[in-house]
Order: sequence, then C-alpha cells, then structure tokens
Amino acid sequence: MHFSYGTNMKVRTIKQPVIVVDGPAGSGKSTVCKHFAEKTGYSYLDTGALYRTVAWLAAAAGVPLDDEARLAELCIGIEFLIPESKGKMIILADGKNVENVIRTENVGMSASKISKLTGVRKALLPIQREAGKEGGIIAEGRDMGTVVFPDAEIKIYLDADPGVRAGRRWLELRGRGEKPEYNDVFEDMVRRDAQDRSRDVAPLKPSDDAFIIDTTNMDIEAMVEAIVKIYHNRSSEIRESPYR
Ligand code: DC
Repeated sequence: MHFSYGTNMKVRTIKQPVIVVDGPAGSGKSTVCKHFAEKTGYSYLDTGALYRTVAWLAAAAGVPLDDEARLAELCIGIEFLIPESKGKMIILADGKNVENVIRTENVGMSASKISKLTGVRKALLPIQREAGKEGGIIAEGRDMGTVVFPDAEIKIYLDADPGVRAGRRWLELRGRGEKPEYNDVFEDMVRRDAQDRSRDVAPLKPSDDAFIIDTTNMDIEAMVEAIVKIYHNRSSEIRESPYR
C-alpha cells in the first residue's frame, strides 16, 4: 500500500517541555535551575536578570525609576544568547554581558521597584517568550507560571522560611566578597518580597497548577532531586497522554 501526504500535511515535532520555577528571593530557584540545566542539557533563563539589567541601565543613563516610557525604551537593547554548551543563557545589554554588574543588593531593590510598571513588563515579555519558544528550557522568576509561560508543561513554586532565605542570600553575598550584615540582608529581602507580592501587575504568587515545595530544610542536593523527580514523573504523564 502506498501513502502520499498532501503538501499541507504538518509533521508535528515533539518539543521538549518548558519548566518554570517561581518563588521569592532565596528560595533556591537559581541553584536548582543551574543544577537541573547541567544535568539535563536544558537551557536556563534567569528572568530576574532581565529586570536587574533594566534597573542597571537606568542607573547608568540617569533614568528615574518611575519613568515608565524611558525604562521601557531601555528594554529594546536587551537580548539573550544561548551558549553552544546550552546551560545558562547570557543576557546582553546593547551587546555587552552585564552579569557581573547586576548582582548587587541595590540593583535588586531597583529591579523590584521597576518591575511593578506595566510598560517594563510588557517590553520584557517577548524576550522571555522568544527564549522559551523551542522548549527544552527551565525559566525562573516571579510570574513564569502565571503570565509568561501559562502553558508550561511543568510548574514549580519554591518557598522557604524568610530567615533561612536571608541566610542563603547572606552566604551568596559573602561568597562574592561582600561583607553585609545579616539583619540588613533580612530586612531588604522582606521589603523586596512585600513589593513583589503586592504589586498590581503579575505579582509573585504560585499558579494554581504549580507543585509547591518548601525548601526550608532542604540542601541543594535534595532540592535538585525533588525537581528531577517531578520532571521525570510529569514527562512520562505527558508522553502517555492521548491529548499531547
Ligand atoms: O530574581 P531576582 O531576585 O534577581 O529578581 C530581581 C527583581 O526582579 C525581583 O525582586 C522582582 C523582579 N522580577 C519580576 O518582577 N519578575 C520576574 N519574572 C523576575 C524578577
């Protein structure tokens, strides 16, 4: 028997899932995503880095943090690169890698301030969706499961006790050679969380279909193991579904 396909016949390719990881600062998102990407060969997108980049560009150009139109314009020069080895995507601002300058507490706080502006969120949306369009990506942020990738195949929300989260952040800053006071880190974090949770647009919250994991008593290994387990279980559910 001979079958022939019309020219309009679409061959459906099986795309790898999009995995999203949301949660507050210090919940373990970056660590988990980095290790997961290393284990699986997935690309890893840190969307907080996009907001930090806008905040850093604003400070460099003297743009006030409430000038929505000019802040949205700054987003035009932001793009991402997928390294050949996959893993963490590189964020470029006007062609420059800004990773080393956007990780300070000041930039984090400014990023949180500008992230409540609709114009900024709208301008960054297509960059994030473009990064995820081929699948095979793990993306971390605050609104990945609710707004940016509402159809993501796997949604995870990490949370932990605020004291533990501040401790992790404090250690991270020490690791970078800074000498912050624990109390300052704790207070900054609580303030930033409140800002991120209470804003009108795309506030930090778990989507209804997210797996919620409390990482308070988990080390890195346990966190990565939990995510890999969810990934394997969900992947076989997706493969077996008649609706995929
Ligand atoms: O993940 P991070 O701490 O680097 O993010 C910095 C700020 O950016 C965070 O306080 C809120 C904002 N952000 C956001 O509003 N939406 C995201 N998807 C990621 C970050």
